[in-house]
Amino acid sequence: MDKIQWFDELAWGLSERGWISFDAAPWFGVDLLRSLQDEIMLLDQNDALKRAGVGRGIAPIRDRSIRRDKIAWLQGVSEPQVALFGLLESLRMELNQRLFLGLRRFEAHYATYHSGDFYKAHVDSFQGRASRIVSLVLYLNDDWKPLDGGELQVFNRENPNEVCGLVLPEKGRVALFMSEEIRHEVLEAHRTRYSLACWFRQDVIPLPLSALL
Ligand code: OGA
Ligand code: MN
Repeated sequence: MDKIQWFDELAWGLSERGWISFDAAPWFGVDLLRSLQDEIMLLDQNDALKRAGVGRGIAPIRDRSIRRDKIAWLQGVSEPQVALFGLLESLRMELNQRLFLGLRRFEAHYATYHSGDFYKAHVDSFQGRASRIVSLVLYLNDDWKPLDGGELQVFNRENPNEVCGLVLPEKGRVALFMSEEIRHEVLEAHRTRYSLACWFRQDVIPLPLSALL
């Protein structure tokens, strides 16, 4: 499949169903996937990921009954992150061309779920706030088995109580979905689960006050 057909298919999945899952290895390349995997495993070993919060505002609540993952924001500076940001930027533009979403930027973090960790059913954006528009999750695990748990459970756009897909967090697999419309849940993992989540946003970065003075 050439690149044009590839992006057509992603856009089609987002508009028709609200989500799509695919193997990014042909697009990202196996070397980049391995470098990203090395990076998150090293961060995890060094205890450099921090407990994630839920909710909006400047003081997210760290509610362990809702989510238990640990995260580290990507700065786009290391070699694999520069390559990744280039690919995400091309995806941003290709989606804008096809779906007129007006995506202006993206943010991304690594996440680890250790054994016993989960993230209860949620959507990634609050209806009407139009901040996070499209979510992308890239998985970075070798030989993930169904018995390892930790699948991403996706709910039906038309019926948010009906499960319509289960994505195994195997290296190179990607889940791409509409942030406000698709309810999803990370089932309890039974071994360490590595992933990278990215959100394409419509808003711009607020300027620091000092830039206005
Ligand atoms: C999230 C999320 C899904 C996953 O970070 O908001 O839903 O499969 N992640 O890691
Ligand atoms: Mn989510």
